[in-house]
Amino acid sequence: MTVLVEAKDVRKSFETLAVLKGVSFRLDKGETLVVMGGSGSGKTVLLRIIDGLLRPDGGAVMLFDQHIERLSEEAMLPVRRRLGYVFQGAALFDSLTVEENVAFPLREHTDLSAREIHERVIHFLSLVGLDEKVLPQLPAELSGGMRKRVGIARALIGQPDVLLFDEPTAGLDPTNSKLVGELISELGSEVCDTAIVVTHDLELAKTVADRVAVLIEGRFATIGRLDDVLGSRDPAVQAFLSGEAR
Ligand SMILES: Nc1ncnc2c1ncn2[C@@H]1O[C@H](COP(=O)(O)OP(=O)(O)OP(=O)(O)O)[C@@H](O)[C@H]1O
Ligand SMILES: [Mg+2]
Repeated sequence: MTVLVEAKDVRKSFETLAVLKGVSFRLDKGETLVVMGGSGSGKTVLLRIIDGLLRPDGGAVMLFDQHIERLSEEAMLPVRRRLGYVFQGAALFDSLTVEENVAFPLREHTDLSAREIHERVIHFLSLVGLDEKVLPQLPAELSGGMRKRVGIARALIGQPDVLLFDEPTAGLDPTNSKLVGELISELGSEVCDTAIVVTHDLELAKTVADRVAVLIEGRFATIGRLDDVLGSRDPAVQAFLSGEAR
C-alpha cells in the first residue's frame, strides 16, 4: 500500500479553544476516507491543516512521504498542487466567469497556452456534467448544484493525486446531493482515486466511503468501515449518528 496522507497526533487550538486534540490516520492510495462530525467539531480546520493552509500546534502531517508541518509557504506550493481542494460552499470568485474560475489554477501555476487551457476547462467541466454553455456565466447565475460542480472541476483541473472535499452536499436538495455523491464515486474510479470527504451527510458517506472517521471532542472517536462505525458501541458516536439520521 502507498500511504498518500498521514496524520499523527495532530493538535490545533485557537487561543483557549482546543479544536483538534490528537487526530491520527493514514490514507492509502485508492481510498476514500469520509470524516464526519458535528458543526464546529474541527473538520474544516483538519482539511486546512492537511492542505498546509493552517499549521498544527503539534503532531505531524505527511503528504506523499514528506513532512509538511514545518514547510515554508514556498516549499509547500508544489506539494499543495498535488491536492485538489473543493472548499465548503464552493468558494468561487464571484466576479469571474465559470471559465475563468476553472482556468484559475492553470493560469496561476502553469505556462500552458490559452487554447490548451480552454480545452482543459471544457474537458474537466464535461467530467462533472457541465457543458460549454456555462463557460461565460457568473457563479451567481448558476444553481447551487452547478456551483458545486464548478468547484469540483476547478479542483480537478490540476490533476491532483488526492481530492479534499469540504461538505460537498451542504445546501443541496436530496436529488442534487445524490447526484454529487454519484459524481464523487465516478471520479474515484476514473479521475482521482484518493479522497478525503468531510461531511455530516450520512447518505453521502454511504455512497462514497471506503472508511469513515467520526470527529468528536477533537479526536477520531472511531475510524473504520461504515458498517463497523454504524455498529460502534461508543455512546458519543451513537449519539452523533442518531442525531444525523433524524
Ligand atoms: N482561524 C480561526 N480562528 C479562530 N477560531 C477558529 C478558526 N478557524 C476555526 N476556528 C474555530 O474552530 C472550531 C472548528 O471550526 P471548523 O470550521 O473546523 O468546524 P467544522 O467542523 O468545519 O464545522 P461546520 O460543520 O459548521 O463547517 C470552531 O469553533 C471555529 O470557530
Ligand atoms: Mg466546516
